Amino acid sequence: MAVRLDVRKLTVELPTQTGWVRPVNEVSFTLGEGETLGIVGESGSGKTMLSLALMGLEPPGARRKGEAWLHERDGAADLRGINLIAASPDEMRPLRGREMAMIFQEPMTALNPVMRVGSQIEEAIRVHESGASKNDIHQRAIRALEQAALSEPEQRARQYPHQLSGGLRQRVMIAMALAPGPGILIADEPSTALDVTVQKQILELLAKLRKELQLSLLFITHDLGVVAQVADRIIVMYAGRIVEDGPTAEVLRRPRHPYTEGLLRAAPRLARGNLIPIPGTVPALNALPPGCAFAPRCPYHVTECDAAVPELRPASKNHNARCILVPCAQPTTTN
Ligand SMILES: Nc1ncnc2c1ncn2[C@@H]1O[C@H](COP(=O)(O)OP(=O)(O)O)[C@@H](O)[C@H]1O
Ligand code: SF4
Ligand SMILES: [Mg+2]
Repeated sequence: MAVRLDVRKLTVELPTQTGWVRPVNEVSFTLGEGETLGIVGESGSGKTMLSLALMGLEPPGARRKGEAWLHERDGAADLRGINLIAASPDEMRPLRGREMAMIFQEPMTALNPVMRVGSQIEEAIRVHESGASKNDIHQRAIRALEQAALSEPEQRARQYPHQLSGGLRQRVMIAMALAPGPGILIADEPSTALDVTVQKQILELLAKLRKELQLSLLFITHDLGVVAQVADRIIVMYAGRIVEDGPTAEVLRRPRHPYTEGLLRAAPRLARGNLIPIPGTVPALNALPPGCAFAPRCPYHVTECDAAVPELRPASKNHNARCILVPCAQPTTTN
């Protein structure tokens, strides 16, 4: 599988009154062509900041470190790709939308309330296709609405966001994101604000579009049950760091980090017995424990956990966890 996105030690730092904090801390992963990578973690673990940093939309004053290589579709055209972290605003502008797009939990924050939804989709296309005719762009906007499974697209196009239900607004958002034809879609909690039935429809739509359009999908959610339905691989984030990553089935069957274990016990669709919430909350970024950030909430905590931040250790092939309970790999002997 060709790699579309190769993120290496991406760090985002924000200035606060007590100094710089790191909502995203040395995060590394790859996203393959046509792959769905789930990023899961409680609210405040850095998921949105990670997506915004990849899109070059981090808050003013933030600084980014590390690399995020965007590779061309079909691999061969430009093997080295472009580093999104080093790209200038002028280099980023054509990539945003055309190569990678993002959808949010609350579509109203991204939609213009006083503009008909059709015109908004047309504008998203026009940014990248200044030479296309008015009629061409209109037809593409209608096709995008159809693709997002909106019935009577001509009529919908003439409506304003507030005239649509939450589910329809999210479909419009998806249509707008996909209209310029990006290969990578970042979906940040796209179904969180919706009721269960509509949530299911949106997840099914995204799964269908991913397949049809060969999208590479970064699917972000706080709900391990949702990610289990859509992702090929999972990354679990805690206090800005990856604490576990691996193939979905394996992480769910045999979580290797106590935090992932806790998320599983608290997930309505996955827990085997009674739902048991994880005690406590995600620590404030300016008051992180000295060693493992999960230590204050961890049932297995021992003194050794406080010595230093544990490294991500290989638990099995393609499966890693940042916990001292994962046995260190045996040193290999060459003679
Ligand atoms: N503009 C900002 N200024 C300072 N801190 C922020 C800002 N935005 C988010 N944060 C902090 O960054 C951390 C990660 O937030 P976020 O990425 O929104 O988490 P998630 O999406 O996983 O809920 C949180 O501790 C949050 O308080
Ligand atoms: S390193 Fe220690 S405190 Fe952290 S998750 Fe593992 S056992 Fe728990
Ligand atoms: Mg978020």
